[in-house]
Amino acid sequence: MNLTLKIWRQKGPQDKGGIVDYKVSDISEHMSFLEMMDVLNEQLVNKGEEPVAFDHDCREGICGMCSMYINGEAHGPNRGITTCQLHMRTFKNGDTIYIEPFRANAFPVIKDLVVDRSSFDRIQQAGGYISVNTSGNTQDANSLPISKENADLAMDAAACIGCGACVATCKNASAMLFVSAKVSQFSLLPQGQVEATDRVMGMVKQMDEEGFGNCTNTGACEVECPKGISLDNIARMNREYFSASAKG
Ligand code: SF4
Ligand code: FES
Repeated sequence: MNLTLKIWRQKGPQDKGGIVDYKVSDISEHMSFLEMMDVLNEQLVNKGEEPVAFDHDCREGICGMCSMYINGEAHGPNRGITTCQLHMRTFKNGDTIYIEPFRANAFPVIKDLVVDRSSFDRIQQAGGYISVNTSGNTQDANSLPISKENADLAMDAAACIGCGACVATCKNASAMLFVSAKVSQFSLLPQGQVEATDRVMGMVKQMDEEGFGNCTNTGACEVECPKGISLDNIARMNREYFSASAKG
């Protein structure tokens, strides 16, 4: 198929940037979206032009690196997948496709479609972990009973890959879905209880400092999340936060 691509090009963080039109031809419907981008970049390199910078790593939906806004939606038009899992059969011959970076103040553009998501790393560092006793006298994990329901909910929350689609989709650029998933995956398990108060207070504080917006319950994040992270996690984090605040 032959396509017109309207791609955000931006030389660097200070550059104003803008949409540039490109044509690609003979694109197979079996190609992934990123393979189609590779074809375009090969074309540009052969012409002596600068290829389009975009983030990617695993190309199988697990690393959370690919972060494109395609035709006005984070990770494109299909639900439950990342950009690297999007296939060209979703589009048809003659289509025009708009490709932009994830946009949020806390995700500044580095170049073209690549944004800086290190704000997520700093939120993780503010509490998204558990401390483990490695003295050799560690309690056997199997001796801690965990209900099936909580184990499943913790696993569902841990499916978050930190891609940032929730932030890019939210009109407030709120990171609540991401942060609540990271808080929930521990708060549902006994191992997460020891640092529970510091975790939720620290991660929410860092989230605010990074300049993410507030949650107004629009639910757009849940719809666009490639891993189906539930809004219930936000409610759980709010409960954790209020009880941690009450403890002082
Ligand atoms: S909550 Fe979903 S959309 Fe947000 S970072 Fe995690 S996987 Fe991505
Ligand atoms: S490249 Fe890893 S999730 Fe897309």
